[in-house]
Amino acid sequence: MKGIKGKVAIVTGGATMIGEAVAAELIACGARVVLADIDALKGAAAAERLGRDARFHQTDVSHDADIARCIDATETAFGGIDYLVNCACTYVDNGAASTRAEWNQALDVNLVGAAMMLQACRPQMVKRGGGAVVNFASISASAAQSGRWLYPVSKAAIVQFTRSAALDLASEGIRVNAVSPGWTWSSIIETLSGGDKAKADSVAADYHITGRLGLPEEVAQVVSFLLSDHASFVTGADYACDGGYSALGPEGKAAAITRLMD
Ligand SMILES: NC(=O)c1ccc[n+]([C@@H]2O[C@H](COP(=O)([O-])OP(=O)(O)OC[C@H]3O[C@@H](n4cnc5c(N)ncnc54)[C@H](O)[C@@H]3O)[C@@H](O)[C@H]2O)c1
Repeated sequence: MKGIKGKVAIVTGGATMIGEAVAAELIACGARVVLADIDALKGAAAAERLGRDARFHQTDVSHDADIARCIDATETAFGGIDYLVNCACTYVDNGAASTRAEWNQALDVNLVGAAMMLQACRPQMVKRGGGAVVNFASISASAAQSGRWLYPVSKAAIVQFTRSAALDLASEGIRVNAVSPGWTWSSIIETLSGGDKAKADSVAADYHITGRLGLPEEVAQVVSFLLSDHASFVTGADYACDGGYSALGPEGKAAAITRLMD
């Protein structure tokens, strides 16, 4: 991918399958990456798998002091920051019964954490003459999902945050985009399906035009495109990487009109 070679990226949520895949793709394109995640065990293991161009820094994105330490550690390790990928998330969500504390937690990690990471990275990006950011949104940002209130609201908010940040940081050469994955093979889907990918694919088939789940690597390729110079005229956008989930309407994949003739 054009322009990625020699760049330095921070990937929050880097301990996940999706975050690690993003880091692997960026490293394959010649970048160096700091994985910033609250999970020290998984984060360190991911960095080890990724090799000498990766570092892990334990970071809670809801704590400003942690964020500041992560920025310093990245500058010390790799000399600056060009890219930020806000992938960390919490799925805490009790729908209509969610408490104030749960609302605050969901928004703090999924939205405010991303905003504070960008605020902290911005001076570093300005020093390098610009940068690029990808915020993880989701198909959940624009569809009602039974029993889920907090996560979808947080993801809808990050799409709007992406537009606002894109506008106000453009003069500094910083592009800000979002990616909205569909169901992706990840820890949560692996856990919910009991590790049965074929089952997960067959359930996903009802909701995705492609008839299957996405792979972390497929999401990672869209993220690296958005960071790269190939996307130099793309900012404030929310890119679907969802196997056609968002293209389907309430009729789903069935031929609804013909039901009138039954
Ligand atoms: N899995 C999917 O199908 C899917 C679909 C659409 C969007 N997404 C998005 O992709 C991203 C990754 O999703 P996932 O399913 O791999 O998530 P996951 O739950 O497996 O991972 C979330 C990661 O964030 C880290 N984290 C949680 N709280 C944190 C905090 N306070 N500070 C730093 N790190 C913290 C966790 O340790 C974990 O490594 C998320 O932004 C999610 O919204 C996922």
